[in-house]
Amino acid sequence: DVFHSEVPMTVNGSGHSPVVDHRSTLLDVLREQMDLTGAKKGCDHGQCGACTVLVDGRRVNSCLVLAVSLEGCAITTVEGLRDADGEGLHPLQRAFIERDAFQCGYCTPGQLCSAVGALAEAEAGHPSHVTGPDTAADAPVRLTKEEIRERLSGNLCRCGAYPHIVEAVEDVTRAEPVGQD
Ligand code: FES
Ligand code: FES
Repeated sequence: DVFHSEVPMTVNGSGHSPVVDHRSTLLDVLREQMDLTGAKKGCDHGQCGACTVLVDGRRVNSCLVLAVSLEGCAITTVEGLRDADGEGLHPLQRAFIERDAFQCGYCTPGQLCSAVGALAEAEAGHPSHVTGPDTAADAPVRLTKEEIRERLSGNLCRCGAYPHIVEAVEDVTRAEPVGQD
């Protein structure tokens, strides 16, 4: 019917063509049609970051994106994060475990996807408000705690696990290279 369309997209490396209601957000399609419940619905208004996923490598609040607009896009959710070999946990996932960077875990998938996107932005030389535009694109990423906090400021944590989240991300910025899938 006129309210639904088939939308070919890649999700976590596999091709899918969900038939989506034109009013459905990416978050709802992932959770309700594709059984990918890692991305969480915290606010449904772009304010908490719990729904963060990667679209063509860039982090987005999936509650703000209409699925019908994503034809041909590559979506990565927390379920699709992997290490560089494509087999184990992403370095950020390991670091979150090692640093105990969660309590209830509700914000964690969004924190992880956002951190993957944030590190990619930093590697590409995108400035943060804290450091200014002086991060060389070819330099290993070394982010201060203050800069990590600023780059992840769109991801709220009701449990207040921020210190450990920042430490986990900092651990990964010390190791190199930073992998992204
Ligand atoms: Fe999307 Fe809160 S659920 S930003
Ligand atoms: Fe509970 Fe962040 S760990 S909201």
